[in-house]
Amino acid sequence: KRRVGVMISGRGSNLKALHAASQAEDSPYSIVMVVSDNAAAPGLDWATENGIPTFATSADDGREGFEHRIHAALEGMKVEAIALAGFMRILSPEFVARWQGRIVNIHPSLLPKYPGLDTHARAIAAGDEVAGATVHVVTDKVDDGPIIGTAEVPVEAGDTPETLAARVLEAEHELYPQALAHWLTR
Ligand code: GAR
Repeated sequence: KRRVGVMISGRGSNLKALHAASQAEDSPYSIVMVVSDNAAAPGLDWATENGIPTFATSADDGREGFEHRIHAALEGMKVEAIALAGFMRILSPEFVARWQGRIVNIHPSLLPKYPGLDTHARAIAAGDEVAGATVHVVTDKVDDGPIIGTAEVPVEAGDTPETLAARVLEAEHELYPQALAHWLTR
């Protein structure tokens, strides 16, 4: 199985979905490490409870040292590919180059629409009838790069950013494990 490291900043619901799918015998990957920029991320506690090694480190002393520590931790666990799952920091071109073509990300919009933050509020404000999520290979352009998979959900009348986010998140949990598995076996 391919050794995947997952990077999170918070809740980690996509991490849980990726992990659940990885338990299947025919899964092409296993999650060997969870990394966070936030030592208080709930997803880290969940990983520890589930026996997955974790590494948390702060970026307060600057991005270079931060990324250097993460790189070393991932190398130490012989990680082959990185899945960003609610990781809310922008990785430097140097880090992306070191992991050239080996990082994927899930973003809560139908890219190229709404890169960046507040995707659901922007979709509602634009009057979109369809929203969704995108899994893509990470390049040094933010929320850009070759698309591996998308999932669409309807925007319902009366949706708030919160209700739409919940509907998209449910779709993410199905999309991400499938897209990751497909990409790793391409
Ligand atoms: C997910 O909706 C993910 O698409 C989004 O953050 C949420 C993380 O939830 N990612 C981004 O906005 C990346 N810029 P989770 O921690 O429960 O997986």
